[in-house]
Amino acid sequence: MSDTKEKIINWYPGHMAKARRQMQEDMKVIDVVVELVDARIPYSSKNPDVDAIAGGKSRVLLLNKADMADPAVTALWKAHYESKGFVVAAIDARVGNGLKTVSECITTACKEKIERDRSRGILNRPLRAMIVGIPNVGKSTFINSFAGKAVAKTGNKPGVTKGRQWIRLNKQVELLDTPGILWPKFESAEVGRRIAWIGSVNDQILITTEMAEQLLVFLTDTYPGAVSGYYGIDEAAEDGPERGAELLARIAARRGCLRKGGEPDLERAASMVTDDFRSVRIGRISLERPQ
Ligand code: G4P
Repeated sequence: MSDTKEKIINWYPGHMAKARRQMQEDMKVIDVVVELVDARIPYSSKNPDVDAIAGGKSRVLLLNKADMADPAVTALWKAHYESKGFVVAAIDARVGNGLKTVSECITTACKEKIERDRSRGILNRPLRAMIVGIPNVGKSTFINSFAGKAVAKTGNKPGVTKGRQWIRLNKQVELLDTPGILWPKFESAEVGRRIAWIGSVNDQILITTEMAEQLLVFLTDTYPGAVSGYYGIDEAAEDGPERGAELLARIAARRGCLRKGGEPDLERAASMVTDDFRSVRIGRISLERPQ
């Protein structure tokens, strides 16, 4: 097992077992689970444990950071998860103008509960929602931009840990102010790589030249012209294990990432490529598509 993987696995049990217990506890007073994933990797950033923890709750899936992803691929993911029973929206959590869309998603997902309440004469009982997701998908950003627009914060409720608050989004929806955090599932090297590419495990996984090389291979295969267009290099390279290394070396040369003596500084070029990708300078790119 690699050092990195070992570190992650050792880190997991204490923190995550506690977070998971807390989520299970909170779930008792929740009507709808609003799950955030990264629109660039909706599959790899989605923790399957949520399904078990959420039980039979209504589900909303938000493809966040949609501003960074390829819109055509995001549309495919939306249809994919809708076919699995989620109410789905693509959003940019930094701008609060999606509030109406998200409120609508929540009421759509809870339609049956609203009707059940109504048939029992219960009117205007707000739906209680909880945000969940792996680190860095934008949970705090989402809660902050929505809390900013929210009507009011309401006090504690029985069954919810002291100190927790509900944010009243509108007449129909209340949001728990503390999100449920889950660790990503590193079910395969590919999933781990995608999570590292987008920078969601910054502290745990260091960017290596190998990772940047693999990213360049992915980009030139999937988005032909994006790398050559941005860096002004020829992206045609003979297929083979050295392809990524060759592309990285060309970028290093082109951008003047050189060591003393004129050798290409591949580490510096690798950080630059990773940073350019994460800052959407190479383009709006989705790293995976629905099967
Ligand atoms: P978390 O609570 O799920 O861990 O994530 P958090 O809200 O801290 O967001 C992680 C990073 O993602 C932040 O950037 C945040 O600004 C950015 N972000 C969140 N939602 C979106 C979105 O829809 N689109 C884009 N483009 N970015 C988003 P940061 O660089 O870590 O912090 P900051 O410099 O933006 O403050």
